[in-house]
Amino acid sequence: MGKNNENQEELPQGELIVRTLTMPGDTNPNGDIFGGWVLSQMDIAGAIYSGKRVRGRTVTVGMESMKFHKPVNVGDVLCCYCDTIKEGRTSLTIKIQVWVVRMFEQKRIKVTEGLFSYVAVDEKKRPIPIDTHIK
Ligand SMILES: CC(C)(COP(=O)(O)OP(=O)(O)OC[C@H]1O[C@@H](n2cnc3c(N)ncnc32)[C@H](O)[C@@H]1OP(=O)(O)O)[C@@H](O)C(=O)NCCC(=O)NCCS
Repeated sequence: MGKNNENQEELPQGELIVRTLTMPGDTNPNGDIFGGWVLSQMDIAGAIYSGKRVRGRTVTVGMESMKFHKPVNVGDVLCCYCDTIKEGRTSLTIKIQVWVVRMFEQKRIKVTEGLFSYVAVDEKKRPIPIDTHIK
């Protein structure tokens, strides 16, 4: 990799799906934002993104490669970006990145990322091919 590439700023990968303000009620006993709350925002983003792709119901089947790079603070604007990594017969694997903008600042910081998998399901919650609803 050349010198120029090394200096290039990393940008969020994918589509912005969830953007929200972190609140005091989302903290752990140390006063940092609770990791489980961040995970739930990522899962909401994945549910919206996968539902839009399959135009129907999806369920979360797996989460892997989670990494919490940096803490999230009260007052951060938290943004979840989704990008499709793999489409299978009934499942989608999505990379979900979480970036924050600290209070009164402008710069985006990547705080968390992971791979989430969703399965398209019918009304009886059985897996169906992801293109079933797309005409
Ligand atoms: C999701 C669910 C319907 C899948 O049913 P299943 O009988 O295991 O279905 P299959 O074995 O045919 O797998 C379906 C797809 O999921 C994928 N899959 C299964 N387990 C997986 C995992 N841990 N991670 C990623 N993908 C997985 C399979 O590879 C397959 O993908 P493909 O069709 O694109 O090749 C079933 O496991 C379920 O209902 N789980 C609970 C979902 C839920 O309630 N989520 C919310 C939790 S709070």
